[in-house]
Amino acid sequence: MKNKIIKVLAPATVANVACGFDVLGFALSDINDELIMRLVPKRGVTIINKDDFNLPTEPTQNVIGVSILAMLEEIEGEIGFEIESTKNIKPGSGIGSSAASAAGAVYGANYLLNNRFSNEDLIRFAMCGEEVASGSKHADNIAPCIYGGFTLIRSTAPLDIIPIPSPFLYVTIVHPQIEVKTSDARSILKKQVLLSDAVKQWGNVGGLIAGLMKNDYDLISRSLVDHVIEPVRSILIPNFDEMKKRGIEAGALGGGISGSGPSIFLISKDQKTALDVEKVAKDVYSEIGLPVFTYVTNLNKRGVQIIEMN
Ligand code: HSE
Repeated sequence: MKNKIIKVLAPATVANVACGFDVLGFALSDINDELIMRLVPKRGVTIINKDDFNLPTEPTQNVIGVSILAMLEEIEGEIGFEIESTKNIKPGSGIGSSAASAAGAVYGANYLLNNRFSNEDLIRFAMCGEEVASGSKHADNIAPCIYGGFTLIRSTAPLDIIPIPSPFLYVTIVHPQIEVKTSDARSILKKQVLLSDAVKQWGNVGGLIAGLMKNDYDLISRSLVDHVIEPVRSILIPNFDEMKKRGIEAGALGGGISGSGPSIFLISKDQKTALDVEKVAKDVYSEIGLPVFTYVTNLNKRGVQIIEMN
């Protein structure tokens, strides 16, 4: 075990990636939650919030706490963790805020324990945290947060995670200043899918994976279409259709709702296009008087990072 203080940088992520509801996600550069962690000789987890989000510090009600408690169930002895959390990823923004807390915490804890657990184990623990935040054990933010790049979650039971090679891509994140809870955005989804929509959807999932692996930008662009989830959820996001249309007219390969929203992601081949898309986003939301946060960043191929502090 390491008698160290570490800083964990857990990146923001885009889940679903249009056609891949609950099975696809990718990590973003530049936007990270920060956790300062150390081992303590007492079972349990102490959480100290260093931001203004007022998240609960009681471990059983906190994403970090629940994920670490799931890990501690598989460890014997007087071991626990003290964790200072600074959230730079706003909860309810749609770019994997809860997943960054959950994945960052278990990844850091595992590092302090000399990496006794596999990445699949860590995803399993972090999914318990994700369940507290959203009512569902999805891994499409957690897996790319840990692995970096694009990941396919072929199955969650049993876990089967496949990192997908891809070209370097730029991403514009458009965050209209409203909050959408993942649990609410899941509760409005239809339980049945038309076969004709399912056929189009799995064509696009296969097309997107093939396009990423072959560096085929046209195929990526054609495949970034969601026939199942976006038509239902987009009503929660003001000016969504207009934003997506004008982003694509500005040169983006495509995009959609980031996770359960309200953030919207648009993928571009180069930085200039991603910056043009950002400008369009500012226009689209100033036209309706809704404040918007925007980021231009790129694909984070590295995933969660650890920095030793002592
Ligand atoms: N796949 C999840 C959903 C991601 O869309 O509900 C939530 O961030």
